Amino acid sequence: MMTSGPTLLHDDGGDATAIVIMGASGNLTRTKLAPALFSLYRKGRLPDHLHIVGVARDVMADEEFRDALRGSIPDADGGEWDEFATRLTYATADVTSAEALKTLYQRLDEFDPGENGKLNCLYYLALAPGLYEPAVTALSEAGMADEWNGWRRIVIEKPFGSDLITAQNLNHHVHSVFREEQVYRIDHYLGKETVQNLMVFRFANSIFEPIWNRNYIDQVQITVAEDVLVGERGEYYDRSGVLKDMFQNHLLQLLALITMDPPYAFAADALRNEKVKALSAVRRMSLRDVRDNVVIGQYDGYHYEPGVSPGSHTPTYAALRLYVDNWRWHGVPFYLRSGKGLSRKTTEMIIQFRSPPHMLFPVPDNVDIPGNTLSICVQPNEGMRLEFQSKVPDAELEMKPVSLEFHYDEGFSGINLPDAYERLLLDALEGDASLFTRSDEIELAWSIIDPIVHGLDLPGAPAPFRYLPGMDGPPNSEELLRSDNRRWLPGCVEVGYGI
Ligand code: BG6
Repeated sequence: MMTSGPTLLHDDGGDATAIVIMGASGNLTRTKLAPALFSLYRKGRLPDHLHIVGVARDVMADEEFRDALRGSIPDADGGEWDEFATRLTYATADVTSAEALKTLYQRLDEFDPGENGKLNCLYYLALAPGLYEPAVTALSEAGMADEWNGWRRIVIEKPFGSDLITAQNLNHHVHSVFREEQVYRIDHYLGKETVQNLMVFRFANSIFEPIWNRNYIDQVQITVAEDVLVGERGEYYDRSGVLKDMFQNHLLQLLALITMDPPYAFAADALRNEKVKALSAVRRMSLRDVRDNVVIGQYDGYHYEPGVSPGSHTPTYAALRLYVDNWRWHGVPFYLRSGKGLSRKTTEMIIQFRSPPHMLFPVPDNVDIPGNTLSICVQPNEGMRLEFQSKVPDAELEMKPVSLEFHYDEGFSGINLPDAYERLLLDALEGDASLFTRSDEIELAWSIIDPIVHGLDLPGAPAPFRYLPGMDGPPNSEELLRSDNRRWLPGCVEVGYGI
């Protein structure tokens, strides 16, 4: 959660805390969790009596585990790393075996017990999704969910389910062991500074909220573009595709933050209640809607990626037109697009306001004076840009779009934007679930994506259009907007923003 003041020092109240990373030999631990924990340690934000225990099946000594993590953190040298490394231990165990976890649990008792003799435990499931349920069962059978001497919390990575039914089943299973307040479902987009800033921008300023509705906003575009290809993740990706991998979570979360009403407080449930209301209002697509409002693409060469089945129709690109059926947003189209193998990596949201109702100034024939646009650049070149018309000096009534810009690197120079995992790990340790998705949010998001996926799976559904890696997606994604007399608006990079 966002707090005021420059530093956030974690107050553990003298308790000992163990972060148990289940699946610690995997990529996520090396590339995200370990760098985030080390950075928090250097900033003095981790609890004093903290132990980090990696658990996986691989046989490894503590020292090997430490070396493996150190190798993945570029600046992990010197005394600070050596001190941090004393907090790291490793246990070889099958996380689906209650017996193995019992042995591990006994080992936690040997740690420095803190000043109160209490031990809090954060279980981080950095596992293949198929292991979530058995790992939760094993934690329960090993008695590790009981809060007899401190809190117990569980962090669950995405994907949370592969459709509505599997997500409901997983929620049901998790709730049979942990209360909802103990569960932290990760969507790392919520931990990004610029995504959190969207809430500050909307609710800590009074000039935008009065015009944040259908009376003033003409359309909203959300783009999450990636230049990378599927690479080594072919097997997972071919089962998911872009709709499950990116839209169900990240893009719908961005949509929820743009469309929700102001919460009564910046508190986990107040915030999530509003997101739930916004997601509930998103119009579910009928089969016909899928045909008219969805464009899918697949980059050329996708079939040759390891793990991808020949002839696969899995989309690596999608563009959707969505509507939010409530008073605030009735009739405003939300265009969402995401894909891999595109020309660049960028995440941005563009709010286009309506054109002036009556144009006083002479405008050349066929020139359309667009409404003001507000571009929120999530990554890279984090910041914002508001475009408006201005008079060209020393010319008759000639107009030209100009902009007001804010850049994080200028506005907050000297402060590096932390990785999303730093924020999320800290919040989970502090028991603040504001930036984590609640069970009902996850299920609502699946209920929006499922009909689209089913519609595209039916016989006769259009196959994905091909596009060459390095393009901006398949050409027909333009047609989706052209039928509304609109086009994809130039994004933060195209307009030279922040460069
Ligand atoms: C993950 C997806 O959730 O988000 C990946 O599984 C994707 O396919 C990644 O590459 C994008 O995250 P970011 O932070 O790099 O935009």
